[in-house]
Amino acid sequence: MRQPIIAGNWKMHKTSSEAHQLVSQLKSLITTSSVEVVVCPPFTALAEAVKAANQSKILVGAQNMFWEEKGAYTGEISGPMLKELGCTYVIIGHSERRQYFGETDATVNKKVMAAYQNGILPIVCVGETLADREEKKTMEVVGQQVREGLKGLDADQVKKLVIAYEPVWAIGTGQTATASDAQEVIAFIREILREMYGDVVQNTRIQYGGSVKPGNISELMAQPDIDGALVGGASLEANSFAAIVNYNKE
Ligand code: PGA
Repeated sequence: MRQPIIAGNWKMHKTSSEAHQLVSQLKSLITTSSVEVVVCPPFTALAEAVKAANQSKILVGAQNMFWEEKGAYTGEISGPMLKELGCTYVIIGHSERRQYFGETDATVNKKVMAAYQNGILPIVCVGETLADREEKKTMEVVGQQVREGLKGLDADQVKKLVIAYEPVWAIGTGQTATASDAQEVIAFIREILREMYGDVVQNTRIQYGGSVKPGNISELMAQPDIDGALVGGASLEANSFAAIVNYNKE
């Protein structure tokens, strides 16, 4: 049985005092105990989010990290820095990082390895663009991102891994993939992992991301291979994120 995991990707939103307030509100609004809940604020708000999440089941993740532990890398943040702050998860290879900051499957792979080395669990993002989908290349593109991004992991690491399937055309657009489209790609991802790692992938959790809202979460979660969601816009407001997390109580 895979425990569902729902994570909020706050992107470049919220100062540290706003983060404190949002996490404090979530603590009283989240009533389910069956879902693992993660918030991913910007680096500058991580410490405050960890403080606010104290004595609750809310876990904190970062949105990115560099693969080296320390050195002359101006502006970068390393695994040990995140670990010491209390981060449990780190999002790696979000499509916005691939699009605006030149991340590739090779850099994703280095960051994934570095996350494990530092005892932080990666949430690895994959997904096709609208052009890929229109050219019927979804499986090819996603397959390559999975194979290259996760190269060299061992079975124990794959067991704890979280993958977020986020079709780029569905992010921030209000256009969600249909639950059955999302299920189809996510089942395909699990099949690739099975080829690479065998049955251990029964434990790997795969989220859907892209315009997840309180109104569509139940249908997505009803799919057999969808184990949670990575939520952007709707995670910035306490009531909507709590409604998503509490989906099975509605
Ligand atoms: P969205 O973003 O929910 O605002 O579409 C999802 C994401 O980019 O992780």
